[in-house]
Amino acid sequence: MKASRHALGRALFLLALLGTLAAAPVQAETDPESGLIKAPGWEAVKAQCGVCHSHKLVTAQRGDEAFWTGLIRWMQATQNLWALPEPLEGEIVSYLATHYNETDWGRRPNLPPTLLPGSERTSGEAAAP
Ligand code: HEC
Repeated sequence: MKASRHALGRALFLLALLGTLAAAPVQAETDPESGLIKAPGWEAVKAQCGVCHSHKLVTAQRGDEAFWTGLIRWMQATQNLWALPEPLEGEIVSYLATHYNETDWGRRPNLPPTLLPGSERTSGEAAAP
């Protein structure tokens, strides 16, 4: 009966695993090597933006097109980053501004002031949105 006990254990494990996967939020596929989100332009970023530092430095930042372009100009002016001819630079900047934008920190919004300690509201009622 040992074999079937194992089979049952395996089935239960798989069920638990499936439950965990089903509960996980849908996430974009990332490249295991660089951690970059796989979407149009990611290969250009992988090739150009991991030469001097980790891709983690890139994926830890958030900003719009102006932010990323400014960062590229700063690295070109002070860190020996080479020129990125068009359409390469545009592709990189639009990828970054789309997938690593400041609206995309992946955290919940701040609590409204009425829910913070010290507000007049003492009951557990929820604040109107
Ligand atoms: C020629 C080398 C080089 C290349 C290529 C390069 N960087 Fe950098 N980058 C640097 C250096 C040097 C720093 C400063 C590192 C530090 O402070 O430790 C930096 C810092 C950064 C930072 C952190 C800025 C901060 O305020 O903390 C980000 C984000 C970044 N780079 C993104 C990029 C992106 C996106 C690309 C591709 C377009 C890129 N890097 C390509 C040299 C480079």
